[in-house]
Amino acid sequence: MRRKLVVGNWKMHGSIAANKVLLEGIIKGVHDLHEVDAVVCVPYPYLCQAQSLLLDSNVAWGAQNMCSNNDGAITGAVSPAMLVDYGCTHVIIGHSERRNLFHETDDTAAARFNAALAAGLTPIFCMGESLEERESDWTDYIVGRQLDSIIRRFGPLVLEHAVLAYEPLWAVGSDQAATPQQAQDVHDFIRRRISRCNASVASAVQVLYGGSVTPANAAQLFAMPDIDGVLVGRASLKVDDFVGICKAANVQT
Ligand code: 13P
Repeated sequence: MRRKLVVGNWKMHGSIAANKVLLEGIIKGVHDLHEVDAVVCVPYPYLCQAQSLLLDSNVAWGAQNMCSNNDGAITGAVSPAMLVDYGCTHVIIGHSERRNLFHETDDTAAARFNAALAAGLTPIFCMGESLEERESDWTDYIVGRQLDSIIRRFGPLVLEHAVLAYEPLWAVGSDQAATPQQAQDVHDFIRRRISRCNASVASAVQVLYGGSVTPANAAQLFAMPDIDGVLVGRASLKVDDFVGICKAANVQT
């Protein structure tokens, strides 16, 4: 039985004062939820604050990106070891905003994915198609290519230590979430594709959905057999919304 996982992706939002209110609210809201794991992926400057506030809670924390090198003359970069230093358990890899705004490719995402595993972090590997690609019936091709960029390089067993996230680009930040069935169809495709290489890995890997998730649509998403959790943007910035989504995950297990 796969556990439910709710991950907040704060993106480039937050301040020391606002984070304190948000994190303390989340800690209080999820402390008695035992059937769901909650993670917040915060901007780098707030990792220290997340670590000190969340240390004794049942909320884990992580980052939204990282460099694939462990050190070196790379101005502006943050290494996997630095994330580990701050107690991170998870790191988002290959988010569509990184792919589109910062020219991340399948190759660079795969290198980061591998470096995260080597550092003992759980990569949350993002995949998803644009609206144009969906309308051209290319969803399986695009998601399959992104998934294969990991499996072909590293083999299916690395997915025992990773989380996958299907985030259709047209649903991210748009108020137009995928329907539960649309998401389920792609999650099923992902699992079947992994299953061609290793059936037990395919049935164990957690596959999250992301894109305009709210407390109002979370329960229907969680009711789908292959949706094991969600990657939440805007709704992770509000205590009631994030906690509401965690509660919806908690009752579905
Ligand atoms: P929204 O929930 O704001 O649509 O963002 C989704 C996302 O990109 C999470 O990684």
